[in-house]
Amino acid sequence: MTNLKSLLVATTAATLAAIATAEFTNSFDGIIAGSDVKLSWGSQQSQQATRDLYLCVTAQVIDRGDGEGSGKVDVYKVNVTTTATGNEYTWTGVPYPLRRIKNGLYQVEVRDCSGLSTNNTVLAKSPFFSVEEEDPGVVVNPDPDTSSSTGSSDEKKKGPPAINKTALGIGLGVAIGVPSIAGLVVVGWCFRKRQKRAAEERRRARRREFVIY
Ligand SMILES: *[C@@H]1O[C@H](CO)[C@@H](O)[C@H](O)[C@H]1NC(C)=O
Ligand SMILES: *[C@@H]1O[C@H](CO)[C@@H](O)[C@H](O)[C@H]1NC(C)=O
Repeated sequence: MTNLKSLLVATTAATLAAIATAEFTNSFDGIIAGSDVKLSWGSQQSQQATRDLYLCVTAQVIDRGDGEGSGKVDVYKVNVTTTATGNEYTWTGVPYPLRRIKNGLYQVEVRDCSGLSTNNTVLAKSPFFSVEEEDPGVVVNPDPDTSSSTGSSDEKKKGPPAINKTALGIGLGVAIGVPSIAGLVVVGWCFRKRQKRAAEERRRARRREFVIY
């Protein structure tokens, strides 16, 4: 019973989606930053319907951050053009006017923005795609935020290697001197304590950095 109901809901939703939006017919694979992408969409029928409309092509990017668990997600949305007509448009200098974001999820939409229909109908919606770097040696639109955070994470990284060396020293000493499980347990306990202290120090350092910036 529930299965039938959810199946019905899913089918209805899919049918509505098929009516409301036409698919883009171009590929979104392997898009390189700075290149031109010929966007095309719609069937014969929607070509008829969109012939006299001015169309907006909007692009958005979802910035998932650097994946360090900040949980922060930013979405930027811009008009690529507001005067497209018919069934295709060449997007030059992708992803301009958005900037290229590493790991960014891009998506384009075509909507009617002629003002003829008041409901801002979405005519086509692309799948999410990524924009590859133009050339590994060239940084496209360097982001000042990223470089400053790289700097501070370098600072953070100065702590752990020293601790690991000390731990290794103790570990070796124990392995050679007292090869007993009890000894290892004690060392493990000391090591955890040390790590906790180091983490606390790092936290304090980060707080200091925060104050300075
Ligand atoms: C795109 O342009 C249309 C028409 O000028 C405007 O209504 C809309 O808000 C713009 N969208 C964005 C994301 O700037
Ligand atoms: C939205 O626009 C489409 C196309 O112009 C039209 O078919 C539809 O009825 C409109 N919906 C509403 C709620 O106005």
